[in-house]
Amino acid sequence: MSHPSKHLLAIEGLEPPHIADLLDLAESYALLNRSGKTQRDLLKGRTLINLFFEDSTRTRTSFELAGKRLGADVINMSVSTSSVNKGETLLDTASTLNAMQCDLLVIRHAQSGAPALLSQKVDAAVINAGDGTHEHPTQALLDALTIRRHKGRLEGLVVAICGDITHSRVARSNIHLLTTMGSRVRIVGPPTLIPADAARLGVEVFTDMKKGLEGADVVMMLRLQRERMSGGLVPSAREFFRFYGLDAEKLAVAKPDSIVMHPGPMNRGVEIDSAIADHPTRSVIGEQVEMGVACRMAVLDVLARRLPRNR
Ligand code: NCD
Repeated sequence: MSHPSKHLLAIEGLEPPHIADLLDLAESYALLNRSGKTQRDLLKGRTLINLFFEDSTRTRTSFELAGKRLGADVINMSVSTSSVNKGETLLDTASTLNAMQCDLLVIRHAQSGAPALLSQKVDAAVINAGDGTHEHPTQALLDALTIRRHKGRLEGLVVAICGDITHSRVARSNIHLLTTMGSRVRIVGPPTLIPADAARLGVEVFTDMKKGLEGADVVMMLRLQRERMSGGLVPSAREFFRFYGLDAEKLAVAKPDSIVMHPGPMNRGVEIDSAIADHPTRSVIGEQVEMGVACRMAVLDVLARRLPRNR
């Protein structure tokens, strides 16, 4: 089944075959990357602009590598060097990018919905690299690929997503993807960090960490996103760790072969103990980063197929 849209703005709305196709293609790119080969002709002559209004290390470099491995000309624009600091609006920036005839536009923005707005104003295919608390679709794809490589499937797995759910676009995209693919998703965290619309999302809610982790196949930890919190939703880092930080004792109630994930950046000693983050067999955090490049190559590939040939 071909991708249903010119853009990738969200996971919500994608159907199982769309997701499965992206994951299968990403898997083939993961193997290609491991073999050391590249496909530098696929995006030859195409321009990819990375437009990041928020800090990023992993996601931006991952899109940059993905674009370069497929042969695109990649340009990174970050807020500190762009004219946004001089008061230019998002839409003025869009018309500048249009005039530059950019083919693929990767955008990260603090405002939920900014990529969707931009997609109406530019000719390029727009990829959401994280918008506010809304979605981060390529993160959910790379998480799903990592899970599938370890468990062989997504259907029927118990996945516990833990910590600051309310402010996490990673959680939102993962919930949409995993429930669409038939996983049983639990969200685990203090009541202050569980979204009000949780029931509508088709997940089970736990405020007791050990109950939430019992029998889980996958334990996904999230960062406390203090920059998005308006008041003191969490008492102190030490107290948070005691109740909701992943350590060996809490992990012991999950399945013995369960895997531990984190999208990064990690706050060691706050949501995850260092010994677990670096665990040689249980932690797949490094593999998530590797799969990120493969998934972004798959997304660029699929969207580029829909672009007009000559611009
Ligand atoms: C996440 C993000 O920016 O949404 N990070 C990432 O893309 N790897 C999660 C976070 O910032 O905590």
